Amino acid sequence: MGRVVVIDHPLAQAILTTLRDRNTKQIEFRKGLVRLGRLMGYEIVKSMDIEIVEVETPLGVKAKGVRIRDLDHVVIIQVLRAAMPLVEGLVKIFANARMGVVSARRVEESHKPGSLDFDIEITYVKVPRIFKDDILIIADPMLATGSTITSVLKHVLKYGVPKRTIIASVIATKYGIERVLKEYPFAEIYTVAIDPEMNERGYIVPGLGDAGDRAFGGP
Ligand code: URA
Repeated sequence: MGRVVVIDHPLAQAILTTLRDRNTKQIEFRKGLVRLGRLMGYEIVKSMDIEIVEVETPLGVKAKGVRIRDLDHVVIIQVLRAAMPLVEGLVKIFANARMGVVSARRVEESHKPGSLDFDIEITYVKVPRIFKDDILIIADPMLATGSTITSVLKHVLKYGVPKRTIIASVIATKYGIERVLKEYPFAEIYTVAIDPEMNERGYIVPGLGDAGDRAFGGP
């Protein structure tokens, strides 16, 4: 059921600090997102059920171990384009994930003074079928107003109802989190930081700027 997990591992926090730094170059920014995707994958695995199994070692003796059954039931959706490096990291952990993409654009002109919400234009959706045993992970590094992720969820959940729905973000706001959980109370939000504010253009403050531009080049 709905919850928020802030990844406070010092390595995740150190990488985030590099991402926030305006002097960090494009390639280092992208690499940082990949590394955070991997760390987030580890964190998500911690919440998965395990079963005890037994294997025989080359010495002919039995050893008890664990199997994580859910690893074979992961669906990852990336919201283009900023999520691409984050997903590159996530798939290092969820190598068998079925994957999809959603292309979503925030319509800047739709912003009304005094409101924090935007219209979202979804121009492409390619999502695999989602089954009831699946763990759905939707990756989008910046959960600001929640406009994008709620639109994306509306489209993606048409493909099936998963066992768990996880939002993988890097920086979220309280406003965005509350909006997502109001519309999708079962969502689980993983993030590395919750920032206090947004500016009048819906950018997270202090934030890290435009994640897509910083990872792939400016507008
Ligand atoms: N998207 C971004 O890339 N950055 C923000 O601060 C908000 C939304």
